[in-house]
Parts: sequence; C-alpha cells; structure tokens
Amino acid sequence: MKDGTPADFQLVSDNDRETAMELPERIIEHLQLLANDNGAYQISRLDHVLQTATRCEADGADDDWIIAALCHDMGDILAPYSHAEVAANIIKPFVRDEVYWVVKHHGYFQMHYNTNMTEEKRRSRERFSDSPFYQSAIDFCENWDQCSFDPDYPTQPLEHFASVIKRVFSREPRFRSSM
Ligand SMILES: [Fe+2]
Ligand SMILES: [Fe+2]
Repeated sequence: MKDGTPADFQLVSDNDRETAMELPERIIEHLQLLANDNGAYQISRLDHVLQTATRCEADGADDDWIIAALCHDMGDILAPYSHAEVAANIIKPFVRDEVYWVVKHHGYFQMHYNTNMTEEKRRSRERFSDSPFYQSAIDFCENWDQCSFDPDYPTQPLEHFASVIKRVFSREPRFRSSM
C-alpha cells in the first residue's frame, strides 16, 4: 500500500462501493446459513429470527427494529461466544443508536430467561440499568426474542423481508471506519 498512487486507491474505493451495493443480498445469504442449525430448539435459527421479525412487524415496529430482529442472531454460528456484538456491528452504520445498543447487549438480557443459570448470571442485565436503552432491551427480549421459538407461530418467510433488508442496507452509512 505504501506504493499505491491516488489512482490505485480510487480503483479500490470504486470496487468497495460496488461490493457494498451487494450488501442486501449478502445479508440474505448469511441469514440463510442459519437454516442449517437449530441449537437444540424446536425451530431453526433462521425460523427463530424470522419469527422475531414477524412479531416485531405485527406490533407496528419500524424498519430499524425489524432489521434488528432479523439480524440479532446472525453471529450465532460464527461467533458463539460473542454473537450479539457481531450482529450489532453489521447493522451499526444503518440503524439508530438505540437499536444498535439493544442488539449489542441482548445476550445479557436473554440470560434473564435461562433457568439453568445462577441467579447472579440471570441478573446480568441489571448492570446496564443506567442506560437510556435499558427498557428497550428488556422489551425487545420479552416481546419479540425470547418468545420466538414457537413451531406453531405463523411466521413470515425470508422473502417477505427482502424489501426492508434492501431499504435499510442501502441507506447511506451513518459513519464508516473503513473504505
Ligand atoms: Fe441472541
Ligand atoms: Fe434470538
């Protein structure tokens, strides 16, 4: 890179922009990978996020929340010990701070429901009680995430969400730390 001319970097930049334009399709492809695993639940990880997004949409939530619901477990199979942070960083440039924060921390808030954990771990979410987004994270988990493992719930297919994925991931990024 030390030897790169401005024209070389322009070439790279133009190419990166084209790659970024394909982001909605890449998101869909990565969501489809979640169909291959069910994590011992009664439905696949893909059906779980689709059900989460279906409940979210049915409650009249906006595009940012629907994307949060669809993407919140994207890291499950690649980053089993930090899945929430992975998902949060994927959506970070395209959603508002509240939604990013909730996805980033939802793992701690989901522990509240794990009856196989110590009481101390189940209360992990309380360390974030000073955050302005604390209640939003509680609501996200209670209303949409923890309840979305129901094999009988009328869940929308992935194609149903193609347009919201395209809308949100085609937005001008709020910031960038690369490219
Ligand atoms: Fe999760
Ligand atoms: Fe989840």
